[in-house]
Amino acid sequence: MKFETQAIHAGQDPDPLTGAVVPPIYQVSTYKQDGVGGTRGGYEYSRTSNPTRKALEECLATLENGAQAFAFASGMAAEDCLLRTLCRPGDHVLIPADAYGGTFRLFDKVLTRWGLSYEAVRQHDPEAVARAAAHRKPTLIWAETPTNPLLSVIDIRALAEVARDNGALLVTDNTFASPYLQQPLDLGADVVVHSTTKYIGGHSDVVGGAVIVKDATHVADLAFNQNATGGVAGPFDAWLTLRGVKTLAVRMDRHSANAALVAEMLTSHPAVSEVFYPGLPGHPGHEIAKAQMRDFGGMVSFRAAAGEDQAVEVCGRTRLFTLGESLGGVESLIEHPARMTHASTSGSPLEVPADLVRLSVGLEDAGDLLEDLREALA
Ligand SMILES: Cc1ncc(COP(=O)(O)O)c(C=O)c1O
Repeated sequence: MKFETQAIHAGQDPDPLTGAVVPPIYQVSTYKQDGVGGTRGGYEYSRTSNPTRKALEECLATLENGAQAFAFASGMAAEDCLLRTLCRPGDHVLIPADAYGGTFRLFDKVLTRWGLSYEAVRQHDPEAVARAAAHRKPTLIWAETPTNPLLSVIDIRALAEVARDNGALLVTDNTFASPYLQQPLDLGADVVVHSTTKYIGGHSDVVGGAVIVKDATHVADLAFNQNATGGVAGPFDAWLTLRGVKTLAVRMDRHSANAALVAEMLTSHPAVSEVFYPGLPGHPGHEIAKAQMRDFGGMVSFRAAAGEDQAVEVCGRTRLFTLGESLGGVESLIEHPARMTHASTSGSPLEVPADLVRLSVGLEDAGDLLEDLREALA
């Protein structure tokens, strides 16, 4: 079955009891046992498993071509559980020098205290990653592509080879691309993580996260830790996310088309000094993006030619692009990463330019979006 069909049907057979065509919200904490240990279908307690969450997990595993998915209460809960499953105190990991600020904060402020060390490496240069890996063997390489907020493109196949050569696992944060545009497990990654809050949910109405593994190796450990640490997706959140994912393909097509027009307009705008969008032929990762992505996605960043103050002013001047954190919803958003989503990277190797503006290009009419940006930049 093709992606569009899987998104609507995988894990979502009509309910066996009633025939309901979408999975019901099993808003329940516990399940009657027919005698001690006599569970019906293995359900005993909703932290351990829940039918609505299971439907989402089956769908996400199918869409990423993985063996199994685990749905969490947020992207950060997913990352934390994954890292404390795959790593042990004393282990070393390589992280991107350009990544979501919250991911950096998790490594820098939480997991270092747990005994994990990290090194930030510019991952668009696989040789630099290979040198860092040879210098100090990492347990895993954490990648994000395209990156948040600079839209760097990382060659997943090349990084998977570096990971393999060094006995490390490759984890890829696929939030910006979504499984419709890019399937990292097919390109050699071992694990995919998502903030399903973004394109997978798609409607800015639910926070969630997911881990999808390529094979059975880590399934039992992840299931154990997901239950033991408990940061699971609730039934209603899982249901909202499933409702969103059904339309992922059509939304991503339109996000990509609108973003391409926005990027093109910004490229020739005198108030803009640099545009970051992998679909632009001049983008350093354009050829790799063409090879590993179906299209280039809905995220565009740019630098304000007149500097930080102008960047901040533009963020406050748009009418359609709403000033706010997050991304991937049907409505367009604008933000200033240095003061908002990436404030935690200040003074670190992941610090972002102060004149940077990030756009999440939504599904509104492209002409209206271009006019809004032109007016804000005028
Ligand atoms: C690329 C990326 N990964 C992970 C996360 C964390 O996800 P959540 O906000 O759902 O915890 C985000 C959030 O913005 C993100 O942009």
